[in-house]
Amino acid sequence: MRTHFLVPALAGGVSAIVSEDGTGRLPALGWNSWNEYDCNINERVFLQVAQAFIDLGLKDAGYEYINIDDCWSVQPRRRDSQGRMIPDPNKFPNGIKGLADKIHAMGLKLGIYSDAGTMTCALYEGSLYHEEVDAATFADWGIDSDPRLDLKYDNCQYPSQWNDQYNYRPDIPSETVQAPPGYDYGTSNTAERYRRMRDPLLSQDRTIQYSLCAWGAAHVERWGNQTGHSWRMFGDIYPIWAGKNGGYNWGIMPILNQAAHHWNDTGFWGHGDWDMLEVGNGDLTVEESRSHFAMWAALKSPLIIGTRLEGIQSDILAILKNRELLAFNQDEVYADAVMPFNLDRPLEPTTPNSAHPPSHWVGTSVAGIHVFLLNTENYPRDLGVTFADVPGLDTSGARRFLVHDMWTGQDIGEYEGSFTLNVRRHDTAALRFTAVDGGHPNSDWTPRLG
Ligand code: GAL
Repeated sequence: MRTHFLVPALAGGVSAIVSEDGTGRLPALGWNSWNEYDCNINERVFLQVAQAFIDLGLKDAGYEYINIDDCWSVQPRRRDSQGRMIPDPNKFPNGIKGLADKIHAMGLKLGIYSDAGTMTCALYEGSLYHEEVDAATFADWGIDSDPRLDLKYDNCQYPSQWNDQYNYRPDIPSETVQAPPGYDYGTSNTAERYRRMRDPLLSQDRTIQYSLCAWGAAHVERWGNQTGHSWRMFGDIYPIWAGKNGGYNWGIMPILNQAAHHWNDTGFWGHGDWDMLEVGNGDLTVEESRSHFAMWAALKSPLIIGTRLEGIQSDILAILKNRELLAFNQDEVYADAVMPFNLDRPLEPTTPNSAHPPSHWVGTSVAGIHVFLLNTENYPRDLGVTFADVPGLDTSGARRFLVHDMWTGQDIGEYEGSFTLNVRRHDTAALRFTAVDGGHPNSDWTPRLG
């Protein structure tokens, strides 16, 4: 029985993949090996993560996918006599199926990784020209009581005949080849390589959460919704606040700056993916980790943990488990990401130097209107709002609002006219505004521009 359909989503006439079991309606919550383990993966790593999900309360907080990234198949690259990919027996002695069975027995879901080229980025076997057999293999490996599975599909190593006529990479502007006005990027070779995997995935007897890892190439935000459930919007994240590490690894601020240009390309059944979390990694301070998590949650990005869970610091774990931010990200009623407002300087194009994305962001949820105040400066700073300037906040009747701190879960107090607080260097205040009686200050409002 088919359980998923390509249907026009309500807004803008864009098609989206809608599944009866709800897969992909909300951003995915999970863990992925790449940011912390690189290619140093094996079955034990994933089983330990699954156990930690249970022991640390991450499963109870809603995290469900445990995702294998690059480097899981055999080297030298080869396929078996039926053309199927071969898991590395040293890393996965029970195969991927053996691991999936154990993960499912713990009430969690598995994710696998492949590439829309002949090889992955780390030069392992890719799926281009093998889409049918690979989709069937992944589905087969996942089979048991919980039919859901995640496929992250990368964008490396495709033959040159698949190059796009009008190349577009937001993270490498020097490689852009200008398209004529009105050009439909849904007709690009990149879109076609991702569709080649979509159709076999949709024909399996299970729902496969399809995460396009296209780095924003070929304006994936314009065709991602009808192709998969989420789409990577930029080059790889790296655990630094600002700037860039090497050619393709970006800090939190430049990626957030790009998100400020694309906050409204997300909705139910389709989510812009601002990359896996670096919360707890590298040199990020606790405040920087808080800002990273708050903004990714507020942008309705998939929240895929990328840190080692063994020995995780309690303050980092508390960030990842913040109930109110997760509830905002997973809101069943309001699909939109937060939008920037009160711009204190013009939005700049994203470069490694974009250290100052907008400081004021607003969105709505079933619980109220939420304002996020990000201090991008290197010193503590007063940040605030005049209530009349906050989009969506209905100041026509009562002008007093109850201000609530989403980090502590405590009410700060009732305020009239405006609210200001001191925000630490690189920290983010996550606030919820309700009417003084606790009622929603404007339940008709969704943050849509234009
Ligand atoms: C990159 C991708 C990363 C990771 C890596 C593996 O293209 O953006 O998230 O998957 O490949 O080689």
